[in-house]
Amino acid sequence: MNSSEIRQPELIVVRDGATLARTAAEWIARRVEEVTAKRDRCSIALAGGTTPQPVYEHLSRSEFAAGLPWSKVHFYFGDERCVSPEHSDSNYHMAWETLFSGLPVQRGQIHRIEGERADLQQVAQEYAAKLPVHLDLLILGMGPDGHTASLFPGSSALQEKRRRIVVVDAPKLPNCRFTITPPVIAAARSVLVLAAGRGKGEAVARGLQGEYDPNETPVQLARGGTWILDKGAAALLGRSAV
Ligand code: 6PG
Repeated sequence: MNSSEIRQPELIVVRDGATLARTAAEWIARRVEEVTAKRDRCSIALAGGTTPQPVYEHLSRSEFAAGLPWSKVHFYFGDERCVSPEHSDSNYHMAWETLFSGLPVQRGQIHRIEGERADLQQVAQEYAAKLPVHLDLLILGMGPDGHTASLFPGSSALQEKRRRIVVVDAPKLPNCRFTITPPVIAAARSVLVLAAGRGKGEAVARGLQGEYDPNETPVQLARGGTWILDKGAAALLGRSAV
């Protein structure tokens, strides 16, 4: 895909972290409403890290989300660390604490990556088989180096065209991770990128406006999605907060 084939991103710039959490939670809730009005199942892949945590907390504890048909929603993960589900590094653990524990969902609606198992390649294959071909919503964070999920600059996973889940040795601790690959991002029906803080400003500018080279700036793979940023992360884009 070259950059001219990419849809223009929807860009939402907000004042601060608290506004980002509320805005993103409301955006996700509307997406769940849209999908479940048409189909009996809505598949969402969650991002890890710290940025989404207040978003998930807001989503699980807010009035507007309480009325959503959560029984129709199935949760997946864009990446996971090779740790047990109880480990503090686990993205599943974080999602349980901030989201699932506050929602009326059954265990069967949550599809975690079994990072605790020793047979990593088998885990990746099994998860790829259960991951929907077209996610209704893929939520992504990004790092100051422009990585997203656990697709880091220069990673061979960025060249993956066939496999949808691979094991990587990430440059960011914890090193051993599972991650979705570019085909999963391309096939998602909607993609939401969340970023906060001036420290990500340069990567956000490269991600949205730089020369298209996902090998150098993996988050460019989500360039056609919706980006919800705080003022700091959007500082180099030349737009005022809404
Ligand atoms: C992970 C995430 C990763 C994260 C970014 C941003 O498992 O760590 O998937 O891609 O989204 O590193 O992390 P912060 O939100 O903590 O800045």
